[in-house]
Amino acid sequence: MAGSIVAVVNNKGGVGKTTVTCNLAHALGLAGCRVLVVDLDSQCNSTQMLLPPGLEPQHSFYEFMASDELTVSWHECLVPTAYEGVSCLPNVPETAGLEPQLILQAPASFLRLRHRLRDQARQQFDVTLLDNPPNIGTFVLCALHAADFVLVPVKAGSAFSVEGLLKAVRLINEIRRQGNLDLRLLRLLINQVDRRTSISKTIAAQLAAAFRPDQVFATSIPMNTLFEQAEMARQTILAFAPQSSGSRAFHDLARELLAILPLSLTGSEREEK
Ligand SMILES: Nc1ncnc2c1ncn2[C@@H]1O[C@H](COP(=O)(O)OP(=O)(O)OP(=O)(O)O)[C@@H](O)[C@H]1O
Ligand SMILES: [Mg+2]
Repeated sequence: MAGSIVAVVNNKGGVGKTTVTCNLAHALGLAGCRVLVVDLDSQCNSTQMLLPPGLEPQHSFYEFMASDELTVSWHECLVPTAYEGVSCLPNVPETAGLEPQLILQAPASFLRLRHRLRDQARQQFDVTLLDNPPNIGTFVLCALHAADFVLVPVKAGSAFSVEGLLKAVRLINEIRRQGNLDLRLLRLLINQVDRRTSISKTIAAQLAAAFRPDQVFATSIPMNTLFEQAEMARQTILAFAPQSSGSRAFHDLARELLAILPLSLTGSEREEK
């Protein structure tokens, strides 16, 4: 069976897109999956977390997207990471400068990633995770045209991140209308849950009212300062603090995701609420 491409999207910044992408990738790798992380964000945070410090990638998402003709091979752009089974298509800050050119060449340029990534990624990897910048700009549109599924992290303590996810869901419907008929909402993922605070409970209740149970992961990710410490050490939490609640949550999330993906593939008739 072909692998799945999952775009991690929320236009709100700091909700955990990169944290979820890298930690889920590591957990899926440990579960025996072949995983690719594509860093579409010119902040390069997933690249920093996954690549050894000081390693300057020879090729990156920049070359992958820069010109009408692909000047490097797909394999030349992929870098193995320290984590078993996990490869990365890294990014460089210069990619931000490609945006005006891609906008001028739109809408054809929005399909560039799809044409260059989709077939090979689905053949060679079980799961491809696309980490996105905090906007609904060119690169997010490219990701949505290339993906099968959208995973939307929501920060439990922020009402604004719920607004971000409503935008993301509307966008999924729009991209499907524009031609990516495969695209579906996979699940929302509640991140940074602090069970002691009422705002965490309020957000969970708002989501339960607005979405069906099968649109929200049963697993949530706890608020844990070890995530920030792991980030400082440029490691996933699974490597930095394997016994932590955060690490356990990502193992649970990987299991839940693997149980869902084949179902989601066959449940393509489902519509978002
Ligand atoms: N569950 C968590 N508990 C504690 N801290 C967390 C948790 N998840 C993420 N963080 C921290 O929150 C900050 C923002 O997370 P992250 O970089 O993953 O968000 P993002 O959505 O990718 O941000 P951006 O929109 O800028 O790309 C980071 O410092 C990260 O370590
Ligand atoms: Mg990020």
